[in-house]
Amino acid sequence: MEDELVRLKSVALKALDSIEEPDALEPFRVRYLGRKGEFTLLMRKLGQAAPDDRPRLGKLANDTRKEVEGAFDAKKSELSGADNGKRSGAAPQTDLTLPGRAVPFGKLHPVTQIMEQVCGIFEGLGFAVAEGPDVETDFYNFEALNIPKHHPARDMHDTFYISGSVLLRTHTSPMQIRAMKEKPPPLRMIAPGKVYRCDSDITHTPMFHQVEGFLVDRKVSFSDLKGVLTVFIAKMFDKDTPIRFRPSFFPFTEPSAEVDIGCVICKGKGCRVCKQTGWLEILGAGMIDPEVFKMVGYDPEEYTGFAFGLGVERIAMLKYGINDIRLFYENDLRFLSQF
Ligand code: DAH
Repeated sequence: MEDELVRLKSVALKALDSIEEPDALEPFRVRYLGRKGEFTLLMRKLGQAAPDDRPRLGKLANDTRKEVEGAFDAKKSELSGADNGKRSGAAPQTDLTLPGRAVPFGKLHPVTQIMEQVCGIFEGLGFAVAEGPDVETDFYNFEALNIPKHHPARDMHDTFYISGSVLLRTHTSPMQIRAMKEKPPPLRMIAPGKVYRCDSDITHTPMFHQVEGFLVDRKVSFSDLKGVLTVFIAKMFDKDTPIRFRPSFFPFTEPSAEVDIGCVICKGKGCRVCKQTGWLEILGAGMIDPEVFKMVGYDPEEYTGFAFGLGVERIAMLKYGINDIRLFYENDLRFLSQF
């Protein structure tokens, strides 16, 4: 009988160990621990044992059965998930259903995003991208652009001078000169970058960004300029954004124009942003002045070209309805993370 108890216990524990589904628990219970189960049957044989052995064998049978019952209960709670992760003796389980830890994502600065968008549109139109130095000379920034010393147009630029004729560029237009001095026509380029002016209020920061564009070839006309800028504005803003060219003056273009778009805030009805005009100025442009061509050694009789320059922050402000340019440079994540 003792041997049979040991064998039954080992068979039962082995069977229990192989159970992986809660559904298999009840058949196990019926077979081994039930009223007509193996333990009950074995205990009935107790009567056949010698009377002196009965108490000891009875206790052994009971203990063995309790041991198997204990193992059964442990299995039951393990499979029901009640002690998930603390299975006695087993390594703690990893709960694969838990969501992972979120890794915070950085974003591109809104000005960078607009810059990339602007450049992407012109690259799509076949313009090459060139970058130049932030620290410029008076020659490239002014002189070669037909802004001689003492010309009143210099006043508009609020220049940061580094020394004598070295300065922080006040616009990206010097890139026209650098490109034309380097390469004969035809040219079709944009030059994005930082520019600097000693100015600071809700629409000016001492550093801001511009994208310069220029195209030089034979027979380039004002209608080419209009065509390129119309495509740009349709892609940058709404497809049917109205656009108008207003006569203006820049020393390095003749004729010159300022380009307005229908106010993106009020759709032309008139509001505070467009000062009730229904229009917003977004860039300066014109046909490159023959004087500029002479400075770089291009023949103005043979070549014509157009140029334009736009402010990136200004476009970002119009696109996102931002009324204070300084927000871009305060590094406040509550502002920056919205874009
Ligand atoms: N450089 C001018 C500025 O910073 C903008 C500009 C106007 C650029 C007309 C041009 C142009 O290329 O044709 O205010």
